[in-house]
Amino acid sequence: MKNIQFTPIGVIHSFFKKTEGVPIQASAAKGTSGTVEVFQKYAEGLKDLDGFSHIILIYYFHRVKKVSLKAKPFMDDEVRGIFSIRGPSRPNPIGISIVRLEKVVENILYIMDLDIVDETPLLDIKPYVPEFDARKDVKIGWLEKHIHKLSKTKSDNRFQKGEIVMGIDLEMIKQMSAERLCEDEGFLSELREKLGDEGGQKKFLELENIIIEKVDDFKHLNDHDKIMEEMGIFIRKLKDDILSEDIDNPNSSQKKPG
Ligand SMILES: C[S@@+](CC[C@H](N)C(=O)[O-])C[C@H]1O[C@@H](n2cnc3c(N)ncnc32)[C@H](O)[C@@H]1O
Repeated sequence: MKNIQFTPIGVIHSFFKKTEGVPIQASAAKGTSGTVEVFQKYAEGLKDLDGFSHIILIYYFHRVKKVSLKAKPFMDDEVRGIFSIRGPSRPNPIGISIVRLEKVVENILYIMDLDIVDETPLLDIKPYVPEFDARKDVKIGWLEKHIHKLSKTKSDNRFQKGEIVMGIDLEMIKQMSAERLCEDEGFLSELREKLGDEGGQKKFLELENIIIEKVDDFKHLNDHDKIMEEMGIFIRKLKDDILSEDIDNPNSSQKKPG
């Protein structure tokens, strides 16, 4: 059979800069945000997509370095056949994630709930339709005994080695810190109320970036717990400052008194 060649139609941006510490499925990634940049020449194909709340992203696991026909999945210690797990080190390293589509602005899709590393090449997008894609009465094989671990399990470096800076995993700390913004579900709602849906989402992304960059200021502490403690203080103050700032929701019909 002939080899098949695909050309990426875009690129997925997320704040997961490394493959470790990432949610292991999109369904367990509630609150993580990202964007999909569809290259201009394919943008016309996005027509009518904005009516769907969820989309299926099909992408190339570009950070995979090895291929194995058997591997230990993240939620189990037993070696399983690669086609019975969802790990990335497959013969054709293709991933699929059903993510929430927040909005479409020209060629950019704003998405939530993703388990995908930054700069991942995008191969295709399809609308998620429960009538097509959801099934009843399913069996989930070896996962039956392990599925309860889904929300708590994060990826580690079993599919490839990660970079450790000065003995501490700074990237992991960055991701954990950025995730703290999502822990408090009310915060994004409050931002949206204050700044409008679009403004709130934008500010949320800005804050994630500020937090990620701030971690570098504490790396001299060279201790995971101490850095997380300092980041906790920083994030609390950042949230308080933003919510107490005097900014109006541009979409709000209620005018402030005075
Ligand atoms: C278990 S896979 C599942 C991915 C997808 N939901 C699926 O079922 O095909 C999720 C893990 O893949 C890894 N990953 C995400 N994007 C990647 C990429 N571009 N290259 C290599 N690994 C990636 C992350 O470690 C993440 O936790």
